[in-house]
Amino acid sequence: MARIPEETINQVLAATDIVALVGRSVKLRRAGTNFLGLCPFHNEKTPSFNVSPSRGTYHCFGCGAGGSAIRFIMEHDGLSFVEAVKRLADAAGIRVEEEVWDANAEAEARQRSLLLRANKEAAAWFHTLLMKHQIAAPAREYLKSRGINAEMAKRWQMGYAPENKAFYREWMAGAKLSEQALIDAGIYSVADQDENGRGGRAYPRWRHRLMFPIRNDNGDVIAFSGRLLEKKENTGKYVNSPETPVFSKSRVLFGFDKSKRFIAKADQAIICEGQIDMIMVFEAGLQNVVASQGTAFTEHHAKMLKRVCNEAILCYDSDNAGREAAEKAFRILSPQGIHVRVAALPQGEDPDSLIRKHGAEALRGLVAEAPDFLEHQIRHMRAGAKGDGMAERVRMAEQVAGAISIFSGVAQRVTAVNKVAKLLEIPEEQLNGMVSRAAKSKDNQPAAATRDEKAAKPDESAQKLVAAQNKNALLLCQLALADAEVLLWLRGADCGTILKEVPGTELLGLLWRSTYDPLQEIAQSSFMAGLQRHEEAALALVMARPRPPGGIGAAAEAFDNLTITLLKSEMRTIDAKMRSPNLDKSTIDTLWASYRKIDADLKQRTQRSS
Ligand code: CTP
Ligand code: MN
Repeated sequence: MARIPEETINQVLAATDIVALVGRSVKLRRAGTNFLGLCPFHNEKTPSFNVSPSRGTYHCFGCGAGGSAIRFIMEHDGLSFVEAVKRLADAAGIRVEEEVWDANAEAEARQRSLLLRANKEAAAWFHTLLMKHQIAAPAREYLKSRGINAEMAKRWQMGYAPENKAFYREWMAGAKLSEQALIDAGIYSVADQDENGRGGRAYPRWRHRLMFPIRNDNGDVIAFSGRLLEKKENTGKYVNSPETPVFSKSRVLFGFDKSKRFIAKADQAIICEGQIDMIMVFEAGLQNVVASQGTAFTEHHAKMLKRVCNEAILCYDSDNAGREAAEKAFRILSPQGIHVRVAALPQGEDPDSLIRKHGAEALRGLVAEAPDFLEHQIRHMRAGAKGDGMAERVRMAEQVAGAISIFSGVAQRVTAVNKVAKLLEIPEEQLNGMVSRAAKSKDNQPAAATRDEKAAKPDESAQKLVAAQNKNALLLCQLALADAEVLLWLRGADCGTILKEVPGTELLGLLWRSTYDPLQEIAQSSFMAGLQRHEEAALALVMARPRPPGGIGAAAEAFDNLTITLLKSEMRTIDAKMRSPNLDKSTIDTLWASYRKIDADLKQRTQRSS
């Protein structure tokens, strides 16, 4: 694998403002010299996620996650070390020269930037046609009929895809894009060849359609969705770009590039199915909205949202398909720790039609009053039930139990059982039984959880490592991490035997063997970035604890205590050896001599330290 030189890593960390970096996805508030927020790596209600700008590290007291800015990017965005360094380097304008040249990666990067350019050029061209060209008059009429004005069309860069291929040809030539590039970008599609070997010709994917650019997080156009202007049989109302190297449906939420900051601010995302819904809701002033574009909600979507908010309001159609989609979304969102509520739209309405008929306030009201998913499910079942007797309510409880079993946290489950038991007036124990049975049944696993994405479980290995450390060794670590002088002193001390013989000195060993310059501000987090994940997190935890008083004096005392522990353990070893049978006299003499020597040493030290 390619290696990044250490100086580059130092440079990158020095140029990275960890508070700004973390602050992009976690709301942080100042707490003394540090910053505090809700941990993005586990679910919590009270903040235990700490960021230290001076040390360049973060640490969660709840789940033990922690480390440098590089580790944050790795864990948060699921990147490798090299990818994470590159991401930070890019942001800081630092060139990363890897020691191994990867020709494949270079070719891929070139292809991606070509596809982005093709999409960008197409969006601009479709838009110009829509705004200015006479052939787009029907499209402009259509927009008017849907209550979309010129400003809105501009803001969302809506466009018009012409019917005639000649238009496309002229544009391609001007934009210097090859037919192959358009095929690769999904703007052209290739017809399947028939049995006579005909077909196989490329043609524009969208003709005479209203075009909506789909953007990634950065706001780059990566795909399109094109809508029919008038009803037509045998063709989809919407036609979307195919999957390409820059577009993966399961990883994009329509409008998220524009609405992300509003979602973070509201700590809530309104989720619609259609892009027109998303646009109309946003334009009506409810800007914390995204659309999943009719496709199933994926775990990746849920994770994107979880980074910025803790609550989702589903605004799906109130037909059966919409309800099914809502249940699926609930099963994906809940395990990520997103609280799901459902806005009950009137029969036959979607957010767009509701706003058009009854105004934004109507939608605002439904969003504000949206019951949580379980309550919504119960209300719906009750409305359709034959009666409200015990048998009926138990039947309903069986259904809801499946949904409750999705919750991963014990607290979440307890709250849900408590609430549902009250609503349905059945004993909690009975419902608990149903929930555990549902949890065990196969068809009830957190639905479409994609295999490549394992749920982020809090990692306790760092906390365990710290808890297993010798008290004095840990104190030494704390002092050495906080005080350059102590670290330099420690490196000069004779730690070899202690590290070998005294358990719980692993962290101390890391520092004793380290070579970074503690007087250089960023060297420490750069050193940490080179450690194993749990070691890095453990050191971040140690650093996040209050600094113990004392400098070298306190360190020397801790070191003495460690030596005493070592000597005692050596004496126990000798003692055990002397008890073994059949020792010859000279062995016994030697053992005895060392025992006395250690004992004397020990006495002296104990006297000194008391
Ligand atoms: N969709 C799609 N292909 C289709 C139909 C729908 O990709 N043939 C997606 C679109 O993203 C669409 C969403 O599913 O926005 C919801 O579909 P639907 O409710 O049928 O459409 P609306 O969003 O209501 O669109 P419109 O108001 O324009 O009819
Ligand atoms: Mn609609």
